[in-house]
Amino acid sequence: MESLRNKTVLITGGSSGIGKATAIRLAQMGAQVALSARNRDALEQVRKEIHTAGGAALVAPADVTNAEQVRTAVEATVAHFGKLDILLASAGLSMRAYFEGSSLEALERVMRVNFFGTLYATHFALPHIKKTKGSLVAVSSLTGKRGIPSYAVYGASKFAIQGLYEALRLELLKDGVHVGVVSPAFVDTPLRANVLGPNGQPWAVPPPPPFRVWPVEKCVERIIRLIVKRKRQALMPWFTGPLLAIDELCGRVLGDRILLGRFPPES
Ligand SMILES: NC(=O)c1ccc[n+]([C@@H]2O[C@H](COP(=O)([O-])OP(=O)(O)OC[C@H]3O[C@@H](n4cnc5c(N)ncnc54)[C@H](OP(=O)(O)O)[C@@H]3O)[C@@H](O)[C@H]2O)c1
Repeated sequence: MESLRNKTVLITGGSSGIGKATAIRLAQMGAQVALSARNRDALEQVRKEIHTAGGAALVAPADVTNAEQVRTAVEATVAHFGKLDILLASAGLSMRAYFEGSSLEALERVMRVNFFGTLYATHFALPHIKKTKGSLVAVSSLTGKRGIPSYAVYGASKFAIQGLYEALRLELLKDGVHVGVVSPAFVDTPLRANVLGPNGQPWAVPPPPPFRVWPVEKCVERIIRLIVKRKRQALMPWFTGPLLAIDELCGRVLGDRILLGRFPPES
C-alpha cells in the first residue's frame, strides 16, 4: 500500500506479538518504524530483522508506566526520522482472574501498563501527530466492548482506552487527526503464556481460551486497514460487531449466560 510509504510509526509493545508483527509488516510496506518496549534485546532483534529485509527501524526503549521514558522514546523517534505520522499503542499485559480475591497491586499494575501506558504515549505523540495530520491508534480488546467475567480490570483498562480515544477522536476532528481503536478477540501471541493470575504472577498453566484464538496476521491486517482507511474502530473477528449488537438488543440475557458458562471462576 503506497499510502504508508515513508510514514513514521512509533509502536509501543514493538518487541513482541501484535506490535512486533505489525512493525515488520509496516516496514515491508515502506514505513519507518520506531520500536518501543522494555526488552532491549528483543527490540534489537526486531530491528535487525527489519534492516536485513531492507527496511528502516529504530529502537526506542521505554517502560510505558514511566512517563519520562515514554517522552524520551517519542523525542528519539522524531529526532531520528524528523517526524511522527502514526502512534500504535500496543503495549499491554493481560490478567485473567475474578475481581474478588485479586491482589490490589496486580489490579493497579494492569491499569498502569494498559491504560496509563497508552495515555502517556498518546500525550507525548499528539503534538507531532497534529503536525502531520496522522493517526493515533490504540490496541484495545473485545473486553473493552463488553464486560466479561475474569476480565474485570483488564476489561476496565480497555474500556478506559476506548473512552479516551472516542473523546479524542471528536476533539481532534478539527485538526485532521485520525483516531482509531482496534479491539481483537484472542490472538495467538506470547501474551497468552504470560496472563497474570489473581496474585499478580503469571499462571503456571493459564486457563485455556474458551473461544477461537486468531492468528496474529489477521490482527495485523485489521490494524493496517484501520490506519489506511482512517477508520474509527476495527473489531476482530468482524462478526463480533453484529453479535454485540444482537446481544444488546436481547438485553444481554443470552450473552450473560454464555459468558458465565465459558468463564467460570478459576481455582
Ligand atoms: N493476544 C491477545 O489475545 C490479545 C487480545 C486482545 C487484545 N490484546 C492486546 O494487544 C496488545 C499487544 O498484546 P500481544 O498479544 O501482542 O502481547 P505480547 O506478545 O505479550 O506483547 C506485549 C507487548 O507489550 C510490551 N509491554 C508490556 N509491559 C510493558 C511495559 N510496562 N512497558 C513497555 N512495554 C510493555 C511487551 O514488551 P516488553 O516486555 O519488552 O516490555 C510486548 O512488546 C496488548 O495491549 C493486549 O492487551 C491482545
